[in-house]
Amino acid sequence: MTFDSIQDLPPERLPRHIAVIMDGNGRWAKQRRKNRLFGHSNGIDAVRRTVRESHKIGIRCLTLYAFSTENWKRPATEVAGLWRLLKSYVQKELPELRDNGVRLNVIGDVERIPGHVREAIDFTIRETARGEKMLLTICLSYSGRDEIVRACRQIAQEVADGRMTPGQVDEAAITGRLYTARHEIPDPDLMIRTSGEFRISNFLLWQLAYSEIHVTPTLWPDFGPEDLHKAILDYAGRERRFGMTGDQIQSGQTKSRG
Ligand code: FPP
Repeated sequence: MTFDSIQDLPPERLPRHIAVIMDGNGRWAKQRRKNRLFGHSNGIDAVRRTVRESHKIGIRCLTLYAFSTENWKRPATEVAGLWRLLKSYVQKELPELRDNGVRLNVIGDVERIPGHVREAIDFTIRETARGEKMLLTICLSYSGRDEIVRACRQIAQEVADGRMTPGQVDEAAITGRLYTARHEIPDPDLMIRTSGEFRISNFLLWQLAYSEIHVTPTLWPDFGPEDLHKAILDYAGRERRFGMTGDQIQSGQTKSRG
């Protein structure tokens, strides 16, 4: 099935949750003979455009991979610059997010985020807590493997304390102890990666199990509404089988996953 425009899309074909690996800021800056922070700064404009457009289209959850645990290894000036940009983003965007009913959420090893940045983030999280239209989750100091390790450690502790038996450890038990259990974020329907790289890069490893993946050559600072529409239309035209056969899906038997 193919769809030509977002307006033609039946609402049930719209992804509920879109997750994005925003890649290519450095290359974008290099092409312009500028430093990497110039790329990140223009990446913020792309974040703004993507949040606005997702909200306009009616996406319920948007998750952006902004800073991985591996990113701590980058030069100190780049790391400091990224935190400065993030702080300024959450401060400047607050009125628009609040007015549009967009709730901010942050996941990752937040203890490592510099204190002044965390305060600004926490303020915007509190001020947008009533937002019901869209949940905007920013992954900061995030690692998918670490998220799973934390969930396992929590379960091990509960078993050791006698609050759980090994037999009760199942998929739901792990899902329920991931960062995404807060606000009951559904697994991403669609994961977009920019800059043409075909990697998951430690992003939402558990949650992406059945997500559709769209890779675009567009570098993140150039990503705009047209790119978002293209990714959504690509997603909407696919048949999600969850391990079943096409015939099973078409006959409406969508419960079991294989
Ligand atoms: C990847 O490009 C991008 C990052 C590591 C940072 C992403 C951050 C932003 C877009 C700004 C802050 C975000 C929010 C949500 C306010 P890269 O530097 O790895 O690019 P390269 O692969 O071309 O070098």
